[in-house]
Amino acid sequence: MTTRTLFITGASSGIGAATARAAAEAGWSVALFARSADKLDALAAEIGDKALALPGDVTDLSAVEAAVARTVERFGGVDAAFANAGMGLDTPGTVAGDPEEWRRMVDLNIMGLLYTARAALPELKKTKGTLVLTGSAAGRRHIPGSIYGATKWFVHGYGGNMAEEMREWGGRCAVIAPGMVDTPFFDAAKPDQLQPEDVAAAVMHAIDAPARAAIREIYLMPQA
Ligand SMILES: NC(=O)c1ccc[n+]([C@@H]2O[C@H](COP(=O)([O-])OP(=O)(O)OC[C@H]3O[C@@H](n4cnc5c(N)ncnc54)[C@H](OP(=O)(O)O)[C@@H]3O)[C@@H](O)[C@H]2O)c1
Repeated sequence: MTTRTLFITGASSGIGAATARAAAEAGWSVALFARSADKLDALAAEIGDKALALPGDVTDLSAVEAAVARTVERFGGVDAAFANAGMGLDTPGTVAGDPEEWRRMVDLNIMGLLYTARAALPELKKTKGTLVLTGSAAGRRHIPGSIYGATKWFVHGYGGNMAEEMREWGGRCAVIAPGMVDTPFFDAAKPDQLQPEDVAAAVMHAIDAPARAAIREIYLMPQA
């Protein structure tokens, strides 16, 4: 079987980096996209020939398109794309919050995800591939006043719509919805919560499932 290729945004840390390691371990080539070139280079060096570091900002459509093009040049195609880059808010609340911080978050969590889908879809169509989106437990239930959660409700809504669109040509779209994960998303460590490897395993389940099985959503919560 020829090697399949996974394009990952937010690959420099947390869930994205753990998914890169899990996918490479499972035999996939991995294209690593995020802003921190130093972290991507270190991860690519750790993984070896199967990894390509692609520094860039996901809120810049042309940067994402160029990264997907370089992925195709290097590995021959894209079999799965993981739109995972995202951020939370330092200051929650509609009245207390900072509208400039909302804008940065919406640009990243919504526009960056859409740009990733837009850049990857033409390639996924060629491979009947899988688009994976990082949603959240915060996108499945209502949390008082959460604006971050509302960006994840967008991800869940869009993911379901894309699953319907992509099935028309044999593609699949999966939303991975974790509860709290121990990543640099939080300032303090969360050792009793989900680990990034747990979420990576869910992504692998979605992209490695047989073509007949469309894994539409995986909702995983810490047991603690
Ligand atoms: N941790 C949780 O409890 C949890 C729960 C549910 C869902 N999530 C979601 O999981 C996803 C990954 O978060 P994480 O927990 O793994 O946190 P993380 O370790 O902070 O990872 C965030 C990633 O996004 C990248 N990123 C941020 N801004 C970017 C930009 N403008 N362009 C490109 N990449 C950018 C970061 O890399 P650079 O800074 O190098 O660009 C980093 O690789 C997010 O969508 C988050 O909302 C997290």
